[in-house]
Amino acid sequence: MWYKSAIGYQIYPKSFKSIDSSVGTIKGITSKLDYLKDLGIDLIWICPIFDSPMDDNGYDIRDYYKINPDYGTMEDVKEMITKAHNLGLKIIFDLVLNHTSIEHEWFKKSCAKDPYYDDFYIWSKEKYNWGSFFGGSAFSYNEERKEYFLHIFSDKMPDLNWKSINLKKEVKKIIKYYLALGIDGFRLDAISHLCKKKLENTTPINKDLVYDYSLFSNLKEVHNILKEFKREIFSHYNIMTIGEIGGNPTIKQALDYCNDELDMVYTFGFTNCAKVDLHNMSSNKMDVKAMRNLISAYQNELNEKGWMGLYLTNHDIERAMSLYGDMDYFIESGSMLAVLMYMLKGTPFIYNGEEIGMTNYPFKKVSDFDDVRIRTTYKLNTTLSEEEFVNAVKDTSRDNARTIMQWDDSEYAGFSSSKPWFHINPNYKTINVKKEEQEERSLLNEYKKIIKLRKSLTQITQSYYEEIMLDERIISYKRGNLLIICNCTNNVITLNNLPNVKRVLYNNYNNFHDYKVIEPYQAYVMEVE
Ligand code: GLC
Repeated sequence: MWYKSAIGYQIYPKSFKSIDSSVGTIKGITSKLDYLKDLGIDLIWICPIFDSPMDDNGYDIRDYYKINPDYGTMEDVKEMITKAHNLGLKIIFDLVLNHTSIEHEWFKKSCAKDPYYDDFYIWSKEKYNWGSFFGGSAFSYNEERKEYFLHIFSDKMPDLNWKSINLKKEVKKIIKYYLALGIDGFRLDAISHLCKKKLENTTPINKDLVYDYSLFSNLKEVHNILKEFKREIFSHYNIMTIGEIGGNPTIKQALDYCNDELDMVYTFGFTNCAKVDLHNMSSNKMDVKAMRNLISAYQNELNEKGWMGLYLTNHDIERAMSLYGDMDYFIESGSMLAVLMYMLKGTPFIYNGEEIGMTNYPFKKVSDFDDVRIRTTYKLNTTLSEEEFVNAVKDTSRDNARTIMQWDDSEYAGFSSSKPWFHINPNYKTINVKKEEQEERSLLNEYKKIIKLRKSLTQITQSYYEEIMLDERIISYKRGNLLIICNCTNNVITLNNLPNVKRVLYNNYNNFHDYKVIEPYQAYVMEVE
């Protein structure tokens, strides 16, 4: 169960670090392993690096056995794994099993009704009224086969049919191939969607498109598949698996995946606790009550069973600093958010750039975006002008998280020596790794302290979680004899009900004056009586 005490770090390879190219590369990642080690990371999750036409930046896989040539070669991957292991770092790959690219050989053969591949995808004579995650119908017509195929994401990402015995056989081979290469586990993409309800029009029947994700989320058959994988493969290796559990599961539904299936789940709620008025930048943006209730609901269940990934941002969400942080209290709010998440039960996953407080990008026009979801929704949009559309999507766009990693203040932010494939946030001159490494007081250095502290405290992996109500603007909880206090607002708050403090282990403000007076975004980890 090494993964329980591990600190995870998520890499979006296309934007992380390039060597001799305009896109990130595997060698680029290898060159930054020392940086990750120094940060205190134990476990790296790399978003898909397989051969892909990149409709969805690698989540549309063309060949599972080949590395995207823009990123490098299988030799580069082996070198990266070896170097990581030598440093004591583990690496997990992002495995997409819900769908492939339309350019995958399986799909081509299935279109041609090759008997072995005939049932690899979900084919239908009829088109039904199901809406897809990326907007528009979930059914598209294939001229060659003269049938519709189901795709719950883009029309270039056909869903695999998990009732197919041959498909399962092929997937098991892929999993074993990568385990033989020495990787330490998988993040299983969109895994809660593998099974679908019967194909038929859904209610309201007379509506052209119904966006009802329960049609293809968290159905009971998916558990049988994962139990089989666990029994036959995963349990024979010293690895970890984390499944992305979407489709709005209940907490119980999400944690059910930890029952002889996956080691931990990755669900969505913590990124959905913003106040609706995101644009009122003058006040705090977290709905503290919603966040506290959600944390407690999950953690109370986890006291009994299961394990989860802890995160506030990833490649599908805006930047945490823009979502919940406060630029007027950059270091304080950034480090408070880290304490809030990483002292909980679960395995933290820091998203690349979060440790330096990278922020959302100032998108201005539709052509500024790369994301297939934005492109699809814009095509379908009939009511909004371009300006209105951009204003509606710019804060929440997935592209905010996909801008170039800010390593230093040189021309291309230390990412590459030629113009990168995507935007660099104009604030890279002030928010970058090099600068924050050099400054004694920086968000990066607070992250290092928080990570080191977490690793030194067995209570964080072992002790029960207990919510403590100190003030409605504060999220506070106990882990054994530890009390964690996070002021999620820019208010100064005076506490009248603080337990007796024995020792302060972490305080994100330099100067101590009075424990009872909590400064804006102040975070404490303390031993109490
Ligand atoms: C997951 C990924 C997301 C991708 C989708 C389809 O949600 O995190 O980036 O677009 O699956 O693979």
